[in-house]
Amino acid sequence: MKNITVIGSGTMGNGIAHTFALHGYSVSLVDLNEQALTKAIDIIQRNLDRQISKSKLTENEKIATLNNITTFTDLKGAVAEADLVIEAATENEAVKSRLFNELDDLCADATILASNTSSISITQLASNTKRPDKVIGMHFMNPVPMMQLVEVIRGYRTSEAVTNTIFTLAAKLQKTPVIVQDYPGFIANRILMPMINEAIYSLYEGVAGVMEIDTVMKLGMAHPMGPLQLADFIGLDVCLAILKVLHEGFGNSKYAPCPLLTNMVAAGHLGKKSTIGFYDYRQSDAKELI
Ligand code: NAI
Repeated sequence: MKNITVIGSGTMGNGIAHTFALHGYSVSLVDLNEQALTKAIDIIQRNLDRQISKSKLTENEKIATLNNITTFTDLKGAVAEADLVIEAATENEAVKSRLFNELDDLCADATILASNTSSISITQLASNTKRPDKVIGMHFMNPVPMMQLVEVIRGYRTSEAVTNTIFTLAAKLQKTPVIVQDYPGFIANRILMPMINEAIYSLYEGVAGVMEIDTVMKLGMAHPMGPLQLADFIGLDVCLAILKVLHEGFGNSKYAPCPLLTNMVAAGHLGKKSTIGFYDYRQSDAKELI
């Protein structure tokens, strides 16, 4: 494993590229336009600077990391040499299915195709390819350079050898991999999203305000971040997409997204990335907004 292609340079894609590049892998980072890629490299630079300011990195390591990343808008060029492709595009099944179909045609036979999806079926994505044994979930957590866990998701036809390769690779990145089977939301989001949805319902029903709900969960349950702040951090559109997959996948109303979440996403209040969510991020000290 030497050449890694990361598709999508948003919240997760830039973190995944940062992490692989820091560990000496050659990374091709792909997005739909130059603007998204410029923004991603800027974020990676700032995050590397933050690591330097905490004495966790040297200036030379920062330069080497940035030199390990090449950006592309052309998928074909980006995957030409790839040993592993990690898809971290928008959480939308149609978008991902199309990408897996294209990747299957463009990549060498030996290339492993992984998805960073939060909830979409790996088995379903694999069915768009002629290599379902080489399709797997590699689910990093946000922010990728900081978070320890990688959920390794075995699709119905993922081979033992590919599972072992991805498990070992995650360990080489100094992460802790955990193998889970391919059912909606896997483990992380199957447990996290109902909690976030319940916090939004509590707000929607007027049981308590944003600060109160987050304070109860932080101080009462020793969570480092309240569920509404965490939802803002993940992206409310991403949370909504995951809840829809859980709702549809299990056919159980307990996963139905709260109407307030649906409304906020429709209004473009997507959390930190759009500067407004449950909190207002337009100034440095985020204030609760609703
Ligand atoms: P995002 O919205 O920040 O970034 C997605 C990027 O993909 C955008 O830059 C978009 O232009 C690009 N993109 C869309 N279609 C593309 C295509 N065909 N080719 C190339 N680039 C394309 O989304 P985010 O949050 O980074 O999520 C990405 C994936 O990671 C999703 O599957 C999400 O469920 C998953 N994830 C998200 C987490 C989070 O905390 N936000 C945590 C763990 C997983």
